[in-house]
Amino acid sequence: MIKTSAPAKIILCGEHAVVYCRPAIALPLGDVRAYAEASSSAQGSGLRFAAPDLGESWAPADDPQHPMSELAAATLASLGAPEPDLTITLRSDIPIASGMGSGAAIGVALVRALAAAAGRELAPAEVSALVYASEARYHGTPSGIDNTVIAYERAVWFQRRPPERPRIEGVAIGAPLTLVVGDTGVRSATHLPVGAVRARWQADPAAYEALFDAVAEQVLRVRDALAAGDLAGLGAAMDANQVLLAQIGVSSPELERLVGAARAAGAPGAKLSGAGWGGVMIALAPPGGHTAIADALRDAGAARVRVASVAAQSPDR
Ligand code: PMV
Repeated sequence: MIKTSAPAKIILCGEHAVVYCRPAIALPLGDVRAYAEASSSAQGSGLRFAAPDLGESWAPADDPQHPMSELAAATLASLGAPEPDLTITLRSDIPIASGMGSGAAIGVALVRALAAAAGRELAPAEVSALVYASEARYHGTPSGIDNTVIAYERAVWFQRRPPERPRIEGVAIGAPLTLVVGDTGVRSATHLPVGAVRARWQADPAAYEALFDAVAEQVLRVRDALAAGDLAGLGAAMDANQVLLAQIGVSSPELERLVGAARAAGAPGAKLSGAGWGGVMIALAPPGGHTAIADALRDAGAARVRVASVAAQSPDR
C-alpha cells in the first residue's frame, strides 16, 4: 500500500494580479491535506480510481476525459511507465471551490502515488509541471501558483514570466505567525471570477494594469514585513490588498463581513484568499489573539474556521 498526500494552500498576497505576471506570496497549510492511497489489484486489471467522498469510482478507459484520468495518463507517459494494476483512492480534507487549492492538492497526491508505484520519486518541479498542465486544460489561464506552493510545500514568492519559466523563490519568515482561515461556505469555481477579471481588464486595460501594479507593491511590503517579523506592517499590507481585491471586483458581501469581523476582533490585517466571490478569507492573529478572532468569525456566519500556525523559516529552507 502506498499513501501520499499534499497540503492545502492560502495566498497571502497577490491573487489575480499574479495571472498578469505580478508577484504573489503563498503558503502551504500542512494540517489540511488531500490523500491518494494506491493498493495493488489483480494482474491485468489496470488502473482504477475511487473517490468515496464523491461516491465515484471509474477506470480511466471508461472516462478518459476525467481530469484525474488525463493527469494519470500524462504522469505515466512522463515516467515512461506502463499502466499499473492499481486502485487509487482519492480523499481530501480540503473543501472544494473555496480557494484552498483542493484540485491541485489531489493532483499532486495522485502524481506522487503513481511515481511511488513505479518506484520513482519526482522532484517538486516535475510534480508541479504535470499538475500545472492538468489545471491549464480545465481552468484556462492558471498562473501556476497553486500547483507550485502545493508541490514544493513551502512558502513561495511566485511570478509568471512567459515564455520563460516562472520565478519561484523561498520566502523568509522572521517570526512565527498565526493565521485564522474563515470559510464563507459559498463555493465559487476559480474560472468564474478569473474570467470576469479578464473581461474587465480587456475593457479597460489601463485601469486594471494600475490595480495590478498596486497589488504588486503590497506583495513587496508583505515580503519585507514577513522577513522582519513585523505583524503591524504585514496586517496593513493585507488590508490594502483587500481594498484592491474589492476594486478588482472579486470580493463579496460574505467575505467583507468576515474580514470586518476579524478586524473588529483584533486582527492586524485580513483579506480574502484565492479567487474570491466566495471561498475563504484569512486573518492575521496577534499573539494569543486567535481564539477571539475565530469566535468572531463563527459569530459572523463562517461555515468553518481553522487556525494555522506558520513557523519561522529561512528563504532556502
Ligand atoms: O481560488 P484558487 O485557490 O484556485 O486561487 C486562484 C488564484 C488566482 O490568482 C485567482 C488564479 C491563479 O491562477 O493564480
